[in-house]
Amino acid sequence: MKNIAVFASGNGSNFQAIIDVVQTGELHANIALLVCDKPGAYAIERANRARISSFVFNPKDYQQKEEFEAEILLRLKQAEVDLIVLAGYMRLIGPTLLREFKGRIINIHPSLLPAFPGKDAIGQALEAKAKWTGVTIHYVDEGMDTGPIIVQERIRISEKETRESLQRKIQQIEHKLYPSILEMLLTRGEVTSDKATRTY
Ligand code: GAR
Repeated sequence: MKNIAVFASGNGSNFQAIIDVVQTGELHANIALLVCDKPGAYAIERANRARISSFVFNPKDYQQKEEFEAEILLRLKQAEVDLIVLAGYMRLIGPTLLREFKGRIINIHPSLLPAFPGKDAIGQALEAKAKWTGVTIHYVDEGMDTGPIIVQERIRISEKETRESLQRKIQQIEHKLYPSILEMLLTRGEVTSDKATRTY
């Protein structure tokens, strides 16, 4: 069974979706570690409840990214982590982690990349009056949401769409898509639906 580490910064609903499928046996993985850069984030509570170890840090306690990433790396090695799963981790991954885990870090992002990268992708799509948005799962490289795309799912933005309704639709997709892609990656070592796009 492969060991995964989930990185989260906030609510952790995607983290919870992953915990749930591990517990039902649908996802064949061991969640070895939660890494969280926001002391007090609800994701930490979710880890505690599921008896998952967590490494929580405050970036302000470090002079630079290399320092906290070196500590993260140590914990990842101790936990023998095979794959890093970014689930609402709102921070760019630096060279310290990328060097060791290149090709073994994946991210989920609430837009059809390359559209609307970075923060508040849902707000960006609404602001731009886009007709479509969606969810992208991709490998992580040094850029901001730029790595090779694994899968995308499209969502139509209706005329009456609100931030709340769109966020709900996006999260519903995320909570199903991330576990299923993880299962494919971890059990087959690849994703068969490479660059597939499904439409809603
Ligand atoms: C998710 O919608 C995820 O796609 C997004 O943050 C949310 C976290 O929600 N990630 C990004 O915007 C990354 N650039 P969660 O904490 O409830 O899982």
